[in-house]
Amino acid sequence: MTALEHTRRLEHRSGRTRGPGAHRPGLFARLRAERARRDYEASVLAFAASLKAAFREACTGIALCQYVQVAAGVTIRTPRVGEVRLGPPTSFTVELMAGQEPADFTKGENGARLAHTLGAHALRVEPIAGRWVRLHLLDADPLRGGFGLPPVTVETGSDSVILGRTEDATTLGHALTDPAHLAVQGMNGSGKSVFTYGLLAQLAAAPDVLVTGSDITGLLLGRAWDDTVHRPHQVTGTHDIAAHAVLLEDLVAEMDRRLATIPPRRDKVEPSPQTPTVLVVLEEFPGLLRAADGLPKPKRGEGIPVGDRIRIAVLRLLSEGRKAAFRVLMLAQRFEATAVGGGYARDQFALRLSFRVPADSLEMLHGTDARSLGQEHANADPGVAYLSGLGRDCQRIRVPYLGDYGEYCDRIAAHGRRAH
Ligand SMILES: Nc1ncnc2c1ncn2[C@@H]1O[C@H](COP(=O)(O)OP(=O)(O)OP(=O)(O)O)[C@@H](O)[C@H]1O
Ligand SMILES: [Mg+2]
Repeated sequence: MTALEHTRRLEHRSGRTRGPGAHRPGLFARLRAERARRDYEASVLAFAASLKAAFREACTGIALCQYVQVAAGVTIRTPRVGEVRLGPPTSFTVELMAGQEPADFTKGENGARLAHTLGAHALRVEPIAGRWVRLHLLDADPLRGGFGLPPVTVETGSDSVILGRTEDATTLGHALTDPAHLAVQGMNGSGKSVFTYGLLAQLAAAPDVLVTGSDITGLLLGRAWDDTVHRPHQVTGTHDIAAHAVLLEDLVAEMDRRLATIPPRRDKVEPSPQTPTVLVVLEEFPGLLRAADGLPKPKRGEGIPVGDRIRIAVLRLLSEGRKAAFRVLMLAQRFEATAVGGGYARDQFALRLSFRVPADSLEMLHGTDARSLGQEHANADPGVAYLSGLGRDCQRIRVPYLGDYGEYCDRIAAHGRRAH
């Protein structure tokens, strides 16, 4: 639809085509209406023209253009703008030039720079037919508004849990049975724990899922899970750090037992209520390692230090657990190699989520592609994160908000799986 067609459509909506018997306005009223229509039409065309000019300049400014040698010198070609829609949000179609891809408009800082030049907050690209894309100018951050997590639980680990919502309002799901360990990083108060409340509340009822792990804070796991089948497989607090090592070693022993009994002609364990997918939650894992490393070291020949026992167990769960239906969910303020048990351990996480973090932490977990996103993300609101992995490009999402801590306790109490 062109800008002119847009005005016609508006006219139609405003009831200019009246049925028989309708009151006919007087001559002056009609003339005034006619003039208002023409003024409006002219303003729409002027807006479209100024948008096209601004877009051309913006493309030149960020080198999304081609320099063509002609007899008179060099001319600059920019992608051709087709039809402009007033919106909101304002959008317009653009024909890609030779060699251009839709993603070029948002690559690196291009999206923000184009949007800011055109007076918008952000830019979204929608590929349409052939070599055409539609660019949407967003007035505000589409992730600004939060969204609540309804009291839903999955019936099996192979059903998708809700991870979050993308900028174009797509809800992203993830099945626990997908072969991925999950890394979650973020500074103090950025929303790591609240995200995990939502994830665990969705999984707590599934008969083929067991929520285990270590939590030195004792809020995510522990008391909230009392009376559920999950609780005996969780260790909390800092009063007995060695108990965390024992739990993790027990999990490794169960993993080894499963690996040794994989049926013939199978290369992985199929989860069932008898052999559930074991989710190993490691809340504030660097804190656990620090506490363990602070313990007195055993004398030579009298056993392995607790910190090393924890590192070895977690590394084994990470590197061999996928086939045995073990999934690790590790939370840390920052996924520095030394803080999470080594670079090899960190490489095992196929799904990575970063809440508010300094730019260098974002790049550390998501690679150099994320470098340009770092500065803005260093001030992200709680609950806004970058997600990458499992074939997905790094994308910005808002995770669901389940409510306050009391609501989390209520949901685990209501849905947490119990022994029959
Ligand atoms: N998805 C969300 N939507 C809205 N607000 C949120 C969301 N997630 C977290 N918050 C707010 O941020 C606060 C801190 O979140 P949370 O406790 O999850 O942080 P954290 O990353 O675990 O921090 P710490 O490292 O201190 O444990 C919450 O109490 C809540 O008020
Ligand atoms: Mg926390």
